[in-house]
Amino acid sequence: MLELDALTQGKPVAIVGAGLVGAGWALVFARAGLTVRIYDSNPVISSASLPLIEQQIADLTAYGLLSEPGESILARLTVCQTLAQAVDGAAYVQESILERTDVKRALMLELDALAGPDLIIGSSTSGIPASAFASGLSISARVIIAHPVNPPYLVPVVEIVPSPETSPAVVEFTAALMEAVGQSVVHVRKEVAGFVLNRLQAVLLREAWALVEDGVASCEDIDKTVRDGLGWRWSFMGPFETIDLNAVGGVADYAQRLGPLYRSIADSRSHEREWSPELIKQIESQRREFLKHDDLESRRGWRDRALMAFSAQRRKADPR
Ligand SMILES: NC(=O)c1ccc[n+]([C@@H]2O[C@H](COP(=O)([O-])OP(=O)(O)OC[C@H]3O[C@@H](n4cnc5c(N)ncnc54)[C@H](O)[C@@H]3O)[C@@H](O)[C@H]2O)c1
Repeated sequence: MLELDALTQGKPVAIVGAGLVGAGWALVFARAGLTVRIYDSNPVISSASLPLIEQQIADLTAYGLLSEPGESILARLTVCQTLAQAVDGAAYVQESILERTDVKRALMLELDALAGPDLIIGSSTSGIPASAFASGLSISARVIIAHPVNPPYLVPVVEIVPSPETSPAVVEFTAALMEAVGQSVVHVRKEVAGFVLNRLQAVLLREAWALVEDGVASCEDIDKTVRDGLGWRWSFMGPFETIDLNAVGGVADYAQRLGPLYRSIADSRSHEREWSPELIKQIESQRREFLKHDDLESRRGWRDRALMAFSAQRRKADPR
């Protein structure tokens, strides 16, 4: 907490956009001890945010994942009626609005007019580089990407991606803030669409969709391959460590043995295909056999509780 106070100089953090990701961020910062102001342009979402976070706090408490009473965390959160109220005197803004360049640019123009000279702005964008929506403004040096995984209060990784205009001090501040609130920082050193996480996910998804289209396997069998196979190791080690341990002589030996196989797989996918409407329909219908549309929300709750149970186990085992 001392480190956080020094970083933020006791100032609050503002959450702009309180949908799935923004509400999760609010909990990350409040759980760490910061005062958090929430603003969403949709009043329905604004007023739903605190009850949602209250439920998430109750679940975290039940899994033994909080170090203080839930009411103390809740007391640090307030909902604001305007953007100006939310950002006034704040140290940091976490933007989590719609994933559209024009919408993010419009918000940056508003922030350019409102922001104090020290306000730092992190964007949750899943893959749009900051230079696409935050360049040429007085705030440009203070805008950076801080891309989380959903929900950020349960999955710790955050990708920090500066634009060419972002100042090194802002990179340093944002990384230190994220570490101090308990996130796991990945530095992405060049602007690239999708950053690292979604580029890795894209490769897996590209192959998964193609395997269904080619009739090689069903959605459920592909999910099973990750759920009961690849994902077991990936829950505590990355792909490079995985292959380093999968050949007697380590990664170079692995490359020697399996390099040609991976090369032939890559060659077989050299013609990129779109996810056609027919293929989307096929995959949607396979998924709906396992999960009705109306059950999506309750299944999200199931996922979050599974992540909490996993997190509690992980704390006990700490395999790193
Ligand atoms: N959902 C994910 O898995 C995920 C993961 C990582 C990052 N992200 C990114 O986080 C951001 C938010 O995604 P989400 O899934 O939470 O979307 P969402 O639709 O659930 O929430 C977006 C919210 O922003 C609000 N909003 C829109 N314009 C606004 C404005 N000008 N000012 C204030 N509020 C505004 C909307 O009312 C809505 O409540 C996107 O950039 C997305 O790409 C999403």
